[in-house]
Amino acid sequence: MKTIDELLAEGVRGKRVFVRADLNVPLAGGTITDDGRIRAVLPTIAKLAEAGARVVVASHLGRPKGEPDPAFSLAPAARRLGELLGQGVAFATDTVGASAKETVAALADGRVAVIENLRFNAGETSKDDAERGAFADRLAELADVYVGDGFGAVHRKHASVFDLPARLPHAAGYLIATEVGVLKKLTADVKRPYVVVLGGAKVSDKLAVIDQLLGKADRILIGGGMAYTFLKAQGHEIGISLLQEDQIPVVLEYLARAEKLGVELVLPVDILASSDFPDLKGKTPAEFITVDADKIPADKEGLDIGPKTRELYASKIADAETVFWNGPVGVFEHPDYANGTKAIAQALTESGAFTVVGGGDSAAAVRTLGFDENAFGHISTGGGASLEYLEGKTLPGLAALEV
Ligand code: 3PG
Repeated sequence: MKTIDELLAEGVRGKRVFVRADLNVPLAGGTITDDGRIRAVLPTIAKLAEAGARVVVASHLGRPKGEPDPAFSLAPAARRLGELLGQGVAFATDTVGASAKETVAALADGRVAVIENLRFNAGETSKDDAERGAFADRLAELADVYVGDGFGAVHRKHASVFDLPARLPHAAGYLIATEVGVLKKLTADVKRPYVVVLGGAKVSDKLAVIDQLLGKADRILIGGGMAYTFLKAQGHEIGISLLQEDQIPVVLEYLARAEKLGVELVLPVDILASSDFPDLKGKTPAEFITVDADKIPADKEGLDIGPKTRELYASKIADAETVFWNGPVGVFEHPDYANGTKAIAQALTESGAFTVVGGGDSAAAVRTLGFDENAFGHISTGGGASLEYLEGKTLPGLAALEV
């Protein structure tokens, strides 16, 4: 994989460099609530601009349906990028149309432009190679060189991620290099005990990674909505908690395999349970009870891990040498159900381990809950991407940069 430093050594002054970033930041009413992903790609953009490149930054945001939708405009991200860079950033109101062409043609050496959300064009995410290729052809007209640095999207076989690098000389940016370096440390010669904390709503999203990790991790701590499918598989009453009944046979096989391999697969021992899902907007106080994990009342759902589980999980993390964490363990967006996720974050910051927080939700959680980013070994910008990497899958966006 060619590095950006090699590209810079060849000289980029006056060249139009297309940077595929992941500026898919959370927005609330047009305001960015966590700019971590923009800050993460800044070194690449700043270095290219300093070296005199004409930098064309592109990204997706959310999941618009292949046509312009103002709710998913990249304009707020472009403004924030300009503030962080300390220079005005031009903004094209389309992806490959007149505005993009004019904006790029007007770029002076060392200046930066952002083009509108790539997913406003159906060709970006199309499953049809020809349709994706046609969009990539048009994107290629905007640039002389391609730099892949949208780590959060490298698991997507999308036009700007997979097809465009095949059409231009290409290199990997600093963010991708860092992210891949960290994930390599988790796959080869990992320092033990290696503890993995997996949360999030759906067990089906995490099955493949659990399958892989059973052969690698020493302990897997389960939290979040997915924990209830495990508890149900063990024969416990889970009330109206999240359940993926069809996954029970797989989960049972994992529990059996963990036992055989001597991997500790740890489940919550107590739960905060309520009859109502909390009000995430007004954040009015929630009504809940704390119950043992095998005694969730029939009319209640689990919304966070309880105090005994917080302590148990912290003790399982305390002596770790390596920790990978993906997914909040409760509905952390509501303060009454944030304590479990806080306790995990706290335990990571207090352990002497190399700690990796993987993913959009958990990364945003640690920042919005007020933790210092520097207290973690690495906060990944890619949730799906880092999980698929750990699953051992070939990631289209990395494969495209390798050839
Ligand atoms: C993410 O948020 O995980 C990345 O930006 C990828 O977004 P996607 O899941 O909509 O492809």
